Amino acid sequence: MINFFNNKYYKIFLFRYVCNTIMENNTINILVIFGATGDLANRKIYPALNEISKSDKLPENFKIIGCGRKELKENIFSKLQSNLASNCDYIKLDPMIEDDYKLLSKKLNDYKNISITLNVIFYLSTPPRAYKPIIDNLIKNKLNIEESGYRRIIIEKPFGKNLESARKLNNILTSGFKENQIFRIDHYLGKETVQNILVSRFTNLIFNALWSKDFISYIEITAAESIGIKGRGEYYDNSGAVRDMFQNHLLELLCLVSMEEPNQNSSESIRNEKIKVLNNIRKINFKDDMIRGQYMASETKSKKFKSYTENEGVNKNSKTETFFACKLFIDNERWKDIPFFIRTGKRLPTKVTEIVVNFKKNINVFSPNNETNMLIFRLQPDEGMLVKFNLKSPSYKSGIINKNLEFHYKNLGEDVIDDAYETLILDVFQGNTMLFSRSDFVEKAWEIVDPIINEIDKNNIKLYGYKAGTWGPTKCNDLFRNENTWRYPCKNLVNDGEICEL
Ligand code: BG6
Repeated sequence: MINFFNNKYYKIFLFRYVCNTIMENNTINILVIFGATGDLANRKIYPALNEISKSDKLPENFKIIGCGRKELKENIFSKLQSNLASNCDYIKLDPMIEDDYKLLSKKLNDYKNISITLNVIFYLSTPPRAYKPIIDNLIKNKLNIEESGYRRIIIEKPFGKNLESARKLNNILTSGFKENQIFRIDHYLGKETVQNILVSRFTNLIFNALWSKDFISYIEITAAESIGIKGRGEYYDNSGAVRDMFQNHLLELLCLVSMEEPNQNSSESIRNEKIKVLNNIRKINFKDDMIRGQYMASETKSKKFKSYTENEGVNKNSKTETFFACKLFIDNERWKDIPFFIRTGKRLPTKVTEIVVNFKKNINVFSPNNETNMLIFRLQPDEGMLVKFNLKSPSYKSGIINKNLEFHYKNLGEDVIDDAYETLILDVFQGNTMLFSRSDFVEKAWEIVDPIINEIDKNNIKLYGYKAGTWGPTKCNDLFRNENTWRYPCKNLVNDGEICEL
């Protein structure tokens, strides 16, 4: 028996039907993913597209063209929901080979011929060495030209490996795309809890009125990870914590917690204020205000960790830092001489990202020990906010106890927090650049980081060892040079202390 659905006439009928439907709606939206067989596409992009589709927020007539160097042996789109998977095409395309782009060009032209508006997003989810050839070839083939709908380009981190390479990349990008067509991903900006920082700061008078050197004594930013480098040895060994986390995620967080109120709730206004913060960062004192560390092997009763240098792809004599901490100052009216302590590291006791705002001592007749307040933005996990405040101890006439006012996002319901990639991809569909890094931010951030990297390369900044599973080199506490110290956060928001559940 003839299978009707495989029948040639049925296929022609189906193609015409699809084309007619599209013609009626006039618009086709295409996401071209370079690196479609890669790890990022699998772990982040496809799951995010599924979620966007579930919430019915995909643009109409949405299609995916995956590009990759490999000949396909299996269905790489099997992770996608069936409604998406049935709208996918794959093109075998080597980013370095100019001729391969003709196939992509042809495919896009075919769609152009059956639509009035053709919107195309190019997602560069490849290793960074492929960025330049891809952008060059898109421009050569005029695939950047917005003649019948928008053309947008998403580019993943790392954006360059120093100021010079970031500038070059920006120049190549801007030779073919305008700034509002370019979406440089820093996935931290897509996190719900990160977006909340500005809203909570500026909409709560009880915070906003106290947000300055007059009431705040110091601010800590911690991005701790318990994992090691998980099969990314080669990349990480050429990068290290300064390039991998500090140049991007941590400087973005610093800007959000310290910037002035923007004139408008708009992409440009917010990005303008962030740049002002970066411009005002005082040159960091390499000798006293910076700590680098690398994790060493360690063993507890239940766990055994190998050292960083035992990882595949890592040089056995590597001096790359897996931990970085520094103290920095922002030289402006609001923050004059208030220290910001920043730390990040792999193989620390737990995975936590948080910002801790430590208020000044409040000297008064009721408070013999000058108890202080603390406000914590817990970005992940156990996302929420915590205020530590004082009250009279009911058991003693004049005693004071410090208690918690806490909010957990999970109390708002299950799944209230979208994955960062879901938010970011949706924003690209909508052309909203607010949660992406502007070219000047990326370059300014490298301008801050370049001198640090130069000092590291000249062996001028010591590298301390720390046991895997601990809070980094003990030297790290010396950054404070007074009685203060880091908060040692636990997995759950309210607990802290050097000994936590792991
Ligand atoms: C990436 C870094 O940008 O951020 C990784 O390259 C790091 O090394 C990751 O593990 C951390 O992201 P998150 O969202 O897990 O905090």
